[in-house]
Amino acid sequence: MNTRTTFRTNIIFCIMTSQNCVVVSRHIYVANYDDYCPTHTSQPCCMFQCSPVPTHLVLSCRPTSRPTITRADDKRPLHSAEGESRAPACMVLIAKRAYSLFPMAKYLVDYQAPAWAQKLKNVPKHKVELAMENTPIHEWNLPGIPDGFSLHIKRHDMTGSSLSGNKVGKLEFLLADAISKGCKHVITCGGAPSNHCRALALACRQLGLIPHLFLTSGAKTSDDVGCRGNILLDRLSGADIYMMPLDSDDERDVHPKMESLAKKIMDDTGEKSYLIPKGGSNLMGVFGTMAIFDELSRQGALERFDDLFLTCGSGGTTTGLCIANHLAGSPLRIHGVMVHSTPADAHRHVNGTLRELGVEDARSEDIVDVIDTYQGKGYSISKQEELDFIVEVSSTTGVLVDPTYTGKAAWGLVQEMKNNPGRFKGRRVLFLHTGGMFGLFDGRMDDMLMQHGALTNNVRMCSKQTNGAQNGSH
Ligand SMILES: Cc1ncc(COP(=O)(O)O)c(C=O)c1O
Repeated sequence: MNTRTTFRTNIIFCIMTSQNCVVVSRHIYVANYDDYCPTHTSQPCCMFQCSPVPTHLVLSCRPTSRPTITRADDKRPLHSAEGESRAPACMVLIAKRAYSLFPMAKYLVDYQAPAWAQKLKNVPKHKVELAMENTPIHEWNLPGIPDGFSLHIKRHDMTGSSLSGNKVGKLEFLLADAISKGCKHVITCGGAPSNHCRALALACRQLGLIPHLFLTSGAKTSDDVGCRGNILLDRLSGADIYMMPLDSDDERDVHPKMESLAKKIMDDTGEKSYLIPKGGSNLMGVFGTMAIFDELSRQGALERFDDLFLTCGSGGTTTGLCIANHLAGSPLRIHGVMVHSTPADAHRHVNGTLRELGVEDARSEDIVDVIDTYQGKGYSISKQEELDFIVEVSSTTGVLVDPTYTGKAAWGLVQEMKNNPGRFKGRRVLFLHTGGMFGLFDGRMDDMLMQHGALTNNVRMCSKQTNGAQNGSH
């Protein structure tokens, strides 16, 4: 049911500051009472499915007549329309209890879409602020790039420490939507190395939400799951983790499990859950990736670069960027390098999103270049040359790229510049670093770094004696 209606329940919230009312918060919550409580019993805690508006919440009540909660985001005082009376202590308690369910609503801030996005359908009203903004752009001397090419990197891995990368922008809108809808639990899915799941779990904890992760992996027992890479951080977040077989299909196997969990949580606790697909790549998430374009624009990058090159996984980031680029009328060319699934999937995602946003006159095939040549052995499987390249990149440029996402894309970019020079020669290319650093800690780099004579195996043992040459010089 739409929260923009007037609902009947046992309390009235209205905007006024008279002595017979009690201010209990900076927001008004308008309950979708029917949604939470279909039996119409007068449950006091009917504050689920609520919609905060930026004004004072003042509690009043009308003990004699059938009570009402009235929508108040037109900011007009409602007390004259609805009648007023004193707020007895019990009602204050009720409101406080209701409000205690949503302390996280204080994190919501109003979202003002950029000018080029204002005519879109389904523009969110709120976001939460999780990411560090204006991540740096600098020159990047990526090893192996032939002469005559110009490359810079946008360090979107610097959106935060544990909240690093492209996922964080998506979460700013997704988690705001979860809070606005009165959900306390957030349920999502991904592969075991998923950066989205890790960022979501930690962001949920920052906001007071409860994370649940469905992760696909080859683990046979819970002991096999281990504590490396993103899984370590998933576990440190205290998220509930449900392991699924590696070959599980999202639609057929994983999403039904997520829905059953949401139902169980509701049955057991009365609390609502918010479900997010893999990679946070849905309509709400796309506003987070369009924000990257907005940031590039504010940084003057649209004038300084001709091409933007990025990793394409579930497709959400590429989708947001190419749609924003198209709507803003920018001549930047967007290139997404597939690290799993197919170009057809990526185009389907972009086209579906365009329609959901109400854009009828654009086609994915015309607004984004999808490159499918560098998936190597498959999702999250590395070839030795890719791992060598990762070591070379960090040891020559100081930038960390990971084996699953940005390492493959950077590798692909170098190959593309070598093998298909016409694509980028003479053009000013910007590589979008989308984060993923924790993938370096999943164990696959250890063996190769510890090999005798490995590129960066510069470890020497030293004694405490200062005079007399020992094994090392320090
Ligand atoms: C580090 C990193 N880069 C890029 C991507 C790809 O982003 P998207 O799933 O939005 O295509 C992901 C996620 O899958 C990621 O974790």
